[in-house]
Amino acid sequence: MSARAQIGVTGLAVMGRNLARNFARHGYTVAVHNRSYAKTESLIAEAGHEGDFVPSESMADFVASLERPRKVVIMVKAGGPTDAVIDELVPLLEEGDIVVDAGNAHFPDTIRRENALRAQGLHFVGTGVSGGEEGALNGPSIMPGGTRESYESLGPILEDISAKVDGVPCATYVGPDGAGHFVKMVHNGIEYADMQLIAEAYDLLRQGLGASAREIGEIFAQWNTGDLESFLIEITADVLQHVDAETGRAFVDIVLDQAEQKGTGRWTVQNGLDLGVPITGIAEATFARALSGSVPQREAGRAALPAHAQAWEVKDRDAFIEDVRLALYASKVVAYSQGFDQIAAASLENSWDIDRGAMARIWRGGCIIRARFLNRITEAYERDANLPLLLADPYFTDAVGNGLAAWRRIVAGAAQNGVPAPAFSSSLAYYDGVRAERLPAALVQAQRDFFGAHTYKRVDRDGTFHTQWSGDRTEVEA
Ligand code: 6PG
Repeated sequence: MSARAQIGVTGLAVMGRNLARNFARHGYTVAVHNRSYAKTESLIAEAGHEGDFVPSESMADFVASLERPRKVVIMVKAGGPTDAVIDELVPLLEEGDIVVDAGNAHFPDTIRRENALRAQGLHFVGTGVSGGEEGALNGPSIMPGGTRESYESLGPILEDISAKVDGVPCATYVGPDGAGHFVKMVHNGIEYADMQLIAEAYDLLRQGLGASAREIGEIFAQWNTGDLESFLIEITADVLQHVDAETGRAFVDIVLDQAEQKGTGRWTVQNGLDLGVPITGIAEATFARALSGSVPQREAGRAALPAHAQAWEVKDRDAFIEDVRLALYASKVVAYSQGFDQIAAASLENSWDIDRGAMARIWRGGCIIRARFLNRITEAYERDANLPLLLADPYFTDAVGNGLAAWRRIVAGAAQNGVPAPAFSSSLAYYDGVRAERLPAALVQAQRDFFGAHTYKRVDRDGTFHTQWSGDRTEVEA
């Protein structure tokens, strides 16, 4: 077996086979392997003409077919299956070889794996790959972590096969060990928020206007020509205008209203809680999926809970549609602002030194949250790489400020008319919280000191204090 393949992929389910095809289409000799050889044979049968593949039945032959330093891409289910493949691979590799995990691994697992393989002289590159099956084949957004040394030989190949925006690859070195998978996790958290906000906008239009799914699809198609232009808005316009062949009804009306989740959004929220970053939009989106699946509670709620809400009387259809559009854009900015805060906090905690502008830049294409306004976020971080709050960038302060009255009308209207809009509402509450002169957190601190002597700080002098509530209520320095 001559070692002539420049990169290898093990795990040839749809994502793995499409990545392998993408490498081959870009002129690389690609070693391919799968636990069941039949999948490898079917890849060669169906796509062998697209480039130079080197199929192997055994893992040993697969490794032997790779030139040094070997670059092996693992594309199997996250968790145990990934560990199993690593355990089979590592004894066959030599110092300096590179193992790339391109699945949706949980970043703590990636940190553990990177440390373990580094101790054996190997590079472990946890890599976020976003864009689904189509992206893997035609150009994903790629978020590799690991050592800079591994990126020297691996990076150019990933940049070659990634999506391009204005000729710029949607792939770049993210940072050490788990940084790549962390950024992909936050990408997915933002994806959840984006999808929930779009769903709420749809529901507001449906309930506020009594518009049909098709009419709302046409509204989204119109929105996709402006600041909201994005992959998710585009597919929403498509989905809402799709008709179910079996019933002739709007497709969205025959879909059960219970949203599922593989776990990346949940991880994002858990991490936001750990870091103390208020990613309220992502959290509300994740909990909205959980609520939709809370069947016993929803059945009981439908049966017992009165609406006490007025029917939504929209007097000016076009003005209402514009209000929803502005509220959607403003809420979306909040969700992205929170996601980038989370990246900054994790980067600091883990000494990853993640460049948020670069992350926005590689999300402009290929990934699920690709959107025109990621250009604006990239520009914001180019203006100030240490921007403490994306919302406070002049472009976004103006853009969101212009829509603030509309945002307030829509959130108030949703509340008055009994339409659930948790992500819209929490985003507006976050906006008002983060700009507030004083927050009622002062009272929370006072309460905590009263029942738990948890102390407090004062606004008028340094130090930490406690009031002796059960005694003479004198204040002592803690
Ligand atoms: C991507 C997607 C992908 C993820 C789907 C499903 O970036 O290509 O995020 O990685 O698998 O979004 O995720 P949920 O089941 O959690 O919605």
